[in-house]
Amino acid sequence: MPRIRFLPTFLNTDPVEVEVPPGTTIQEAAYAAKVPIGDACGGNCACSTCHVHVIEGFDALDEMEDEEDDILGKADDVQAVSRLGCQAEVTEVDLVVKITRESQVAYCNEHPEHRDRIPEIDP
Ligand code: FES
Repeated sequence: MPRIRFLPTFLNTDPVEVEVPPGTTIQEAAYAAKVPIGDACGGNCACSTCHVHVIEGFDALDEMEDEEDDILGKADDVQAVSRLGCQAEVTEVDLVVKITRESQVAYCNEHPEHRDRIPEIDP
């Protein structure tokens, strides 16, 4: 199974790795790895709070649909390796993923017990 490596976030100072079957979304992999990813719309491609940067393995991901591209256009810090975690499905290829600051802040807003940690989140 492919291995997804999530870079450090405000909740984990070391990278966290998880193996998931192909077809799993990056957001589902983040849940499995217990790393903080936003999911304000519940994974329905309507909010961009699950925005991630796929640092390694980006080209192996499935093609982005127009709907994802539209929503991603509203996100902060969009890069050539940006995807919505709830839409990008893992293939057979290992990935390295950075959960964006926007997504970590969204996670904190969805989990009020972490709101005081927002200033710790790296850009
Ligand atoms: S969780 Fe809202 S677009 Fe992914």
